[in-house]
Amino acid sequence: MSGARSASHYNPRMAEPTVRLVHFSDVHLTAKRLGWRRRDFATKRLTGWFNVKVLGRGRRFQHAPATVAALMRSVRERSPDALVFTGDATKLAFAAEFAAAGTQLNVEDPSMPPAVAVPGNHDYYTSEAAVAGQFERTFAPWQVGVRLDGHAYPFARKVGPVWLIAVNSATPNRFHLDASGEIGPAQLDRLRRLCDTLDGGLRVLVTHYPLRTETGTLEKRMRVLRDHEAAAETATACGVSLWLHGHIHRPFVRGASAGVPFPMICAGSCTQTGRWSYHEYALTGRHLLGVRRTYAPAEDAFHESDRFSLLLPGVT
Ligand SMILES: [Fe+2]
Ligand SMILES: [Fe+2]
Repeated sequence: MSGARSASHYNPRMAEPTVRLVHFSDVHLTAKRLGWRRRDFATKRLTGWFNVKVLGRGRRFQHAPATVAALMRSVRERSPDALVFTGDATKLAFAAEFAAAGTQLNVEDPSMPPAVAVPGNHDYYTSEAAVAGQFERTFAPWQVGVRLDGHAYPFARKVGPVWLIAVNSATPNRFHLDASGEIGPAQLDRLRRLCDTLDGGLRVLVTHYPLRTETGTLEKRMRVLRDHEAAAETATACGVSLWLHGHIHRPFVRGASAGVPFPMICAGSCTQTGRWSYHEYALTGRHLLGVRRTYAPAEDAFHESDRFSLLLPGVT
């Protein structure tokens, strides 16, 4: 696990409050009846559906409902302070898929912990889905926070002494193989100004796309965050201490490096068969203790499979 550091290297300041987060991503839920309309056949949904049904992508997520149900049981048992969901709720951004995701993730259930959610590229699969705001309507209870000028993104929600700063990095892309993303100069400008308004506390950026892969390279052109340099500069100027993301379906932890002076944690996919896992973080001051919990189909439950720790950079 590149960049992970041993907790024995430093002394946890036990007097500080601990914030416990559950981070999950890329659930890719779908529905039996998608509600195809004639105009959908002229969009990338057709090739996306072919990929899901004929080329086998669907089989990779055939147990997604059972896995999400196990995740929800785990969340209720462990009762974290907040949930962080880093996108790709659906496969093709159909209204029926958003309805299934909202129901299965208990988004409207007031007994669930508070949550922060951002869309992934699959939630903006077509321009129509993005413009219609289907993700934002479905996840409205998970998008409560401080924002600027009435824009949906970015927004910030404080959990104990920790600011969760949600940034939208997903864009609808016309070409069917294009899974790249972008935050955009206008949102980055709002992010900088929003950060200026926030009071003290650790700043954790929440978004779908990574800045780097596990090995420190950029993702391929068709999967990359196109404005990764501007995003890294803005996050640094904002005093971000940690970048949480999904999009890559294998989980990993990457420490600070040249150009990215804060760690990044990828939750991986919570539901993809064989890779199914999620993360729990205990944040005490600048100390993060992480636990990866992996799904065990025989028991229909998540169990601890790895631990990691990080000393996060402080707020500038
Ligand atoms: Fe995904
Ligand atoms: Fe994605």
